[in-house]
Amino acid sequence: MKKQKITKAVFPVGGLGTRFLPATKATPKEMLSVVDKPLIQYAVEEAVEAGIDTLIFINGRNKTAITNHFDKAYELEHQLELKEKEQCLAKIQNIVPRHVGCIYIRQSEALGLGHAVLCAKKVIGNEAFAVLLADDLIDGGTKGCMQQMVEQFNYSNQSIIAVQEVEHDKTDQYGIVQVDDKIAKNAKIEKIVEKPKPEVAPSNRGVVGRYILTPKIFELLENTKKGAGGEIQLTDAISELLKEEQVNAYAFDGIRYDCGSKEGFLEANMEYGLQHPDIREHLINYLEKLHERFRQDDC
Ligand code: UTP
Repeated sequence: MKKQKITKAVFPVGGLGTRFLPATKATPKEMLSVVDKPLIQYAVEEAVEAGIDTLIFINGRNKTAITNHFDKAYELEHQLELKEKEQCLAKIQNIVPRHVGCIYIRQSEALGLGHAVLCAKKVIGNEAFAVLLADDLIDGGTKGCMQQMVEQFNYSNQSIIAVQEVEHDKTDQYGIVQVDDKIAKNAKIEKIVEKPKPEVAPSNRGVVGRYILTPKIFELLENTKKGAGGEIQLTDAISELLKEEQVNAYAFDGIRYDCGSKEGFLEANMEYGLQHPDIREHLINYLEKLHERFRQDDC
């Protein structure tokens, strides 16, 4: 395959988000906010930082919230202008830079992540592309996770999946990979299984929601039957892809918060809050007081 650049990213945002009901009754999970920014905006910023200029959102039933978030808000902008609230205005203008385009596709039924990715087939065409699951919030430090992966892709021109070590008793919450080199940061995947029980898991390297995939994946997704949870699983199609092409597991640098779970979402809010200059001091004082109160309650 000839050398190519990653310019398109798919954001599957059509899940039901059952773990967050009732918050996700009328709003997609990806619009939940960590401090003051929705999860989807963090993921979009990570993609744009990696040089991606076409954002493809696979929307579910609550399709308007995300579309509106990345669109111009004429009325709100006008109100903020009248009130001379320039700082607030800056926060809502050009969330997506001018050179970046957004495409919205409807996933009519939540048939699974694999199905959501397949919905992007016509728009992607015959090129490698990125997939970002916004409910995995990744603080990559000086370099975003997707940027790190794009650099790997530029070198190898092969599909890449982000992985991290997960606790042994939690393998049944992840896609788990077996690699040919247990020490390498970027290693060839030999096997991938969706949510295996700890006793049969091939390793404890869990798949995190960042992928770079070659277009071959679409052909395979078209033939993928329903798998775990009765859904069309991206992992099952990747398992087939392994038979045709090399796919690598990349142990990225950074911290990942599982914002699809309540625990991970609250942890992310706490950590991002502690990094936020406006609220950091307040939060530290509050946590100290809270700690004191709980200690007294324990006595
Ligand atoms: P999850 O497995 O977290 O499912 O999806 P979910 O429905 O969003 O959440 P829970 O488990 O019911 O709480 C992983 C990613 O795939 C997307 C989700 O939006 C999320 O980004 N997804 C999942 C789709 O876009 N469509 C689907 O049919 C399923």
